[in-house]
Amino acid sequence: MGQKGLPPENRRITEAVIDPVFTGRWSPRAFDPAPLPHDTVRSIFEAAKWAPSCMNEQPWLFLYAVSKADLALYLELLVDGNKVWAKTAPLLAFLFARRTFASDNSKNNWAAFDCGAAWMSLTMQARMHGLYTHGMAGFHRDRVFAALGVPEDEYEPMCAIAVGRYGDLGDLPESLQEREKPNARKPLAEVALEGKYRK
Ligand SMILES: Cc1cc2nc3c(=O)[nH]c(=O)nc-3n(C[C@H](O)[C@H](O)[C@H](O)COP(=O)(O)O)c2cc1C
Repeated sequence: MGQKGLPPENRRITEAVIDPVFTGRWSPRAFDPAPLPHDTVRSIFEAAKWAPSCMNEQPWLFLYAVSKADLALYLELLVDGNKVWAKTAPLLAFLFARRTFASDNSKNNWAAFDCGAAWMSLTMQARMHGLYTHGMAGFHRDRVFAALGVPEDEYEPMCAIAVGRYGDLGDLPESLQEREKPNARKPLAEVALEGKYRK
């Protein structure tokens, strides 16, 4: 633990047999600033593109930063609590959901759901490249439209995302070093019920 490139031990315990790709995904804060290969960057967004969506609307729009100038611009849109660690990520992104269906301009009530699927696809493809992602709701929602040139009437910002290899735990502030480990989950019996709802 604490060695550059080596993430903390993952002690996640599951209640049924699942592929380790699911427990191996977690949201670290110690990112290695080394740039990602161009093909890897394309690969994670390509994976996101293949997510299912209502009416195959594909309401997601990813804007991403990999250049120094873009990374600085994106970082400024994050809240301070995220800036402090996301500053080393070699890729930052914002995920937007298109508010309406292209076919008839009616409100797309499933856009957020579909964007969730796309983000998870990106995340899992990133894992398959040995990378980690970290989603962030902590960004300045009121500033992203002007800063990134996104029309507010068309898109709703969903999430900011950091992507990269695991970095050096020692580079994080001490308070964050303590939190830097894969967390747990609610019991399966609380989140998946057979038959009717019950407490
Ligand atoms: C939509 C979304 C918003 C999040 N916002 C933040 C954030 O602003 N800052 C942060 O440090 N973590 C953020 N997280 C990370 C979650 O806290 C984390 O996913 C959750 O605790 C589960 O842990 P795991 O991803 O390591 O399994 C966010 C995750 C998601 C999916």
